[in-house]
Amino acid sequence: MFKQILISAAAALAAFNASADIPAYLDSSRDIEERVEDALSRMTTAEKVAILHAQSKFSSPGVARLGIRGLWTTDGPHGIRPEVLWDEWDQAGWTNDSCVAFPALTCLAATWNPEMSALYGRSIGEEALYRGKDVLLGPGVNIYRTPLNGRNFEYMGEDPYLASRMVVPYVKGVQDCGVAACVKHYALNNQEVNRHTTNVIVDDRALYEIYLPAFKAAVQEGGAWSIMGAYNYYQDQHLCHNQRMLNDILKGEWGFDGVVISDWGGTHDTAQAIINGLDLEFGSWTNGLSNGSSNAYDNYYLARPYLDMLAKGEADPKTLDDKARRVLRLIFRTSMNTAKPFGSLCSEAHYEAARRIGAEGIVLLKNDKGLLPLPSTPGKAARVLVVGENALKMMTVGGGSSSLKVQREVSPLDGIRAAAPEGMTVDFARGYVGDVTGEYNGVTSGQDLSESRGADELIAEAVAKAREADYVIFVGGLNKSAGQDCEDADRASLSLPYGQDEVISALAKANPSLVVVNVSGNAVAMPWVKQVPAILQAWFLGSEAGNSIADILFGKVNPSGKLPMTFPVKLEDVAAHAIGEYPGVKRPGEDIWDEKYNEGILVGYRWHDTRKIKPLFPFGHGLSYTTFAYGKPAADRREMAAGETMTITVAVTNTGDREGQETVQLYITDVKAPVERPAKELKGFRKVSVAPGETKEVTFTITPDDLAYFDADTHSWTSHPGKYQAHMASSSADIAATVPFTLK
Ligand code: BGC
Repeated sequence: MFKQILISAAAALAAFNASADIPAYLDSSRDIEERVEDALSRMTTAEKVAILHAQSKFSSPGVARLGIRGLWTTDGPHGIRPEVLWDEWDQAGWTNDSCVAFPALTCLAATWNPEMSALYGRSIGEEALYRGKDVLLGPGVNIYRTPLNGRNFEYMGEDPYLASRMVVPYVKGVQDCGVAACVKHYALNNQEVNRHTTNVIVDDRALYEIYLPAFKAAVQEGGAWSIMGAYNYYQDQHLCHNQRMLNDILKGEWGFDGVVISDWGGTHDTAQAIINGLDLEFGSWTNGLSNGSSNAYDNYYLARPYLDMLAKGEADPKTLDDKARRVLRLIFRTSMNTAKPFGSLCSEAHYEAARRIGAEGIVLLKNDKGLLPLPSTPGKAARVLVVGENALKMMTVGGGSSSLKVQREVSPLDGIRAAAPEGMTVDFARGYVGDVTGEYNGVTSGQDLSESRGADELIAEAVAKAREADYVIFVGGLNKSAGQDCEDADRASLSLPYGQDEVISALAKANPSLVVVNVSGNAVAMPWVKQVPAILQAWFLGSEAGNSIADILFGKVNPSGKLPMTFPVKLEDVAAHAIGEYPGVKRPGEDIWDEKYNEGILVGYRWHDTRKIKPLFPFGHGLSYTTFAYGKPAADRREMAAGETMTITVAVTNTGDREGQETVQLYITDVKAPVERPAKELKGFRKVSVAPGETKEVTFTITPDDLAYFDADTHSWTSHPGKYQAHMASSSADIAATVPFTLK
């Protein structure tokens, strides 16, 4: 009987599928474009307009009449944001919306490992999918132009090549889950101060060479299904409706077939939104219900005002069809994608991924006399003192829209305690008080960090304990509170806040075995650098922070991270501050700040190298617990003509006594250029794992395209004949070998 029911159910289903009644747009075996056209042909003008704007804080409607689903978006980019109320930012109060927090994107970039990026994308994509999300608002690839930018931690560093290589696998990993990546914030959004009112003035060379490549790679190589416009202005137009950036470059030159989503509140005008490239409007009101006649969402720029313009013949229906097509395409790729997997939330595999990426991104900046790793074998009694608020503080809450509600977060102190071998004691002293609050948008860390003692008392306690310890580990840096690494404001200075410099100097005097672990998404000044033998750059590492840090401190993982940005000695050494007009100049009588990027292409190490300004730690720098020796590079040719390629192979030998990973970097110098060029530019990198005594070969292929600069006059990439150099390097300041060659 049961079997018979099954058979007839299957037969009914087969008959239904085969029936000519099933509309093409619902038939997932058909090509997406065919489904899009079919759906579009059935929709009324009002229905087309309706899918172009939000219906709640984070969702947009489909077409109920046709059974077309809407879209659910979520921040992004480090984990899946907790649920908020339908129309408000306040928490919805769910208890099943905790997530795994992955390391911040600066950390991911610091792995210099595209495989880690693929793992990251896939893992966060699975979390998004499980939580029923269709669009992940991330990753961010705005270029690190100033270390003051409060949102640098959400981006991938200062180099367009590195960011490009790292963003592509992230996008693919997310989208393999049937979840769209929404690459943000396109583009020229390089600071938080005056983020709605800055008008960036940049030359085309810098635009194409520095600020656009990572977005282009995300679109063309990663196949990103959506992109988020930025808040600020470029060419006097907001970037959420910007003719040049969205229509000419993104949709025109790059052939983007996805959806341009506005940043929340980044839409300002109906006519401009229609003609200047915006497809899907979000966040225009903070309270969607009480701000309008029938429903405030009807008042969005791309809602009733758009319908009115269409009715009056003031808007072209073809443009409407183009937008609706893009949104339908996104719907069929995501919410109505029947082939997507199911995803998973807070799985052990995701914690494992977070821990691995975290450890691989930590950068060993300095390690005099091999102070690190700490002894990890049981039995050897050692007293470790951990000092600093960041050893305790939960960093997943705060920072703005990337704030998360995590299922668990391991603090550095807990991670160190858990990893300490038998016989080792781990004591703690606060050292300083920073930010004792732990709340963002109604999510609380649940920590009580209150402290009644004053700065002198805290330093005195830490110093007294440090004198008795064998090792002192200071865990400090920045945090996610306003004015630190946080959205909507920039840092006030390069210095560490809360008097940490004094604490570190006092500890250095009290104990020579001092390790400083700097937790931040930005470079910080280190006036004590010479007094401290070992320094780790630890980023915001998410749920597994403490375990990733302990893995490095105790040598379970050999450090292999390299800096994705320059650490300058002082702010004036940064081009944006030296000549770049940061944070802009107010236009008389207008609420607009013009900011000329006078430094042009000389951003980050390009500026430091070209102007011969010694950094505190250079771009690409990062040590290991082992040592590597580079062999003499071999090139298959020394002359290259157009259409030809050239390969260079260099051998890397592990000359130490433990396995390690080295990232070999390829920089190119244009020896005698007809235009201004940076001293050198990153054009390749390979990360290899090498056993002690082993030698591995790394091969780079160079093409004439790698030598090109963007010629604004002809609007094309140009490589000129002449002499070049290829450098094999361990960092931008540590060149192991140089191969001169000629382009014919
Ligand atoms: C941020 C975006 C974010 C959006 C939604 C905006 O304030 O700039 O990055 O995705 O809010 O939370």
